Amino acid sequence: MIFDVNKNFCTSQYNKLIFEYKKNNKSGIDLYFDNDLLKISNDEIIKFLGNQKKNTSNNIQLPELSEVEVCRHYTRLSTKNFCIDTNTYPLGSCTMKYNPKINEWVARLSQFSIIHPYMPLEKLQFSLSILWDLQQWLSTISGFDTISLQPSAGAHAEFTGIMMMKAAALLKNEKRNKILIPDTAHGTNPATANMTNLEVVTLKSNENGYISISEVMKKMDTNTLGIMITNPNTLGIFEKEIKQISNIIHERGGYLYGDGANLNAIMGKITPGKIGFDVFHFNLHKTFSTPHGGGGPGCGAIGVNNKLNKFLPHPIINKSNNDFFSIDKNRPYSIGMIRTFFGNFSVILRAWTYIRTMGTENLFKATEMAVLNANYIRAKLSTEYYIPYKNDSLHEIILSDKNQKTIGNVSALDIAKRLTDFNIHPPTIYFPSNISGAIMIEPTESESREDLDYLCYVFLKIAEEVKTNPLIVKNAPHNRSRLDEKKAIKNPILKWETI
Ligand SMILES: Cc1ncc(COP(=O)(O)O)c(C=O)c1O
Repeated sequence: MIFDVNKNFCTSQYNKLIFEYKKNNKSGIDLYFDNDLLKISNDEIIKFLGNQKKNTSNNIQLPELSEVEVCRHYTRLSTKNFCIDTNTYPLGSCTMKYNPKINEWVARLSQFSIIHPYMPLEKLQFSLSILWDLQQWLSTISGFDTISLQPSAGAHAEFTGIMMMKAAALLKNEKRNKILIPDTAHGTNPATANMTNLEVVTLKSNENGYISISEVMKKMDTNTLGIMITNPNTLGIFEKEIKQISNIIHERGGYLYGDGANLNAIMGKITPGKIGFDVFHFNLHKTFSTPHGGGGPGCGAIGVNNKLNKFLPHPIINKSNNDFFSIDKNRPYSIGMIRTFFGNFSVILRAWTYIRTMGTENLFKATEMAVLNANYIRAKLSTEYYIPYKNDSLHEIILSDKNQKTIGNVSALDIAKRLTDFNIHPPTIYFPSNISGAIMIEPTESESREDLDYLCYVFLKIAEEVKTNPLIVKNAPHNRSRLDEKKAIKNPILKWETI
């Protein structure tokens, strides 16, 4: 494996941005305002462009560059970030899988890109048929009869599901203002509770990372709306006692919210609709390969059973016997609209394309590969890195910096920074918060054996460096500067500055 982190491949030209060179330099060929070229167009356009030239010239100090320079500028810019299209992106709890380019092609087809939800229903039939088809697929995968594609993200789905659970309790005249949430939950779960005016009752996980049944028994009471469970949980561990938990919750009149953001680990193996959940969300933008990150765009589709069906947000799509799709607005118990129109349509299209091109067999194989890949890494890294939970895990692995802290006072953050020297995006660190110095890796099914080997090679190399020369890890990265994370959030520098 050849990799020289000290080699400076960035020439000064490479580092420059468009505003930093050739200011007011007229050497580029000014294609767009060349009157000779424009003679082929009609007079009106020539006049218009001529005026544009006068009006815009140098008022905003744009550099005048040739096409090739502009093209290189943007191409270089696109390589100044880590992305799934260039390298492994093992961000735990985020499912950063490869996004097939056919998804993008479908999402851009004019059949979809020129329509608008205000057009007459007759003209929207094809798009509505795709929404309908995706709902059928999600229903088959999850075992829930009814699916809504309305929520725009996992967090939004949680909000929608909890509002439905609250509406159901209210209809029974019950005052339930608390919700049980395990300490391993993703931050959006307690945030949702807060947004919906519920008090969070935290369930402490047991020593193997599972929800403790005795905690549930103790804390589930008649003032509690129910429980939010992620399965497999954020430790990558499947909650085996889910049926028992659901029995306790249901016997005491509560509801089970299923956070299905980790569906990549169980799709085709477990049917969420059959293990006790009353409402369950899918992160289409994770499990079904649509680009996401940084807060969107997404689709947090939800599936519900018949206890909650009537509270679904509208609009709901109906299909008549003659295959005509219509909108059902007559839903007196609905929690109402939670966003405009039919959902995040372009994300839905990408997920639909992924599902359709994969087919059931490959979707289920992807689950197996995601679990196999994660366990391959776990086996290889367990020699050097501390693994807090020894029981089986599925699609992601939790390590911690315990060994490296002891040997060279090196933290998870230092390891994450050092990984970037090898062109690997850092995994998730310091989450789940119940593990000190957590390093959470989710390789997904889309990494090849070679890429997994490279990832492991780098992790093991870093572990070796911690023993022989910890400063090289503590001072990483070496090709760029180390940010002060807190300061970067509070005082972001939003303009380009050459360092
Ligand atoms: C377990 C879990 N729940 C909920 C969410 C929230 O999903 P979103 O980012 O789409 O709001 C995530 C996101 O990564 C997650 O991992």
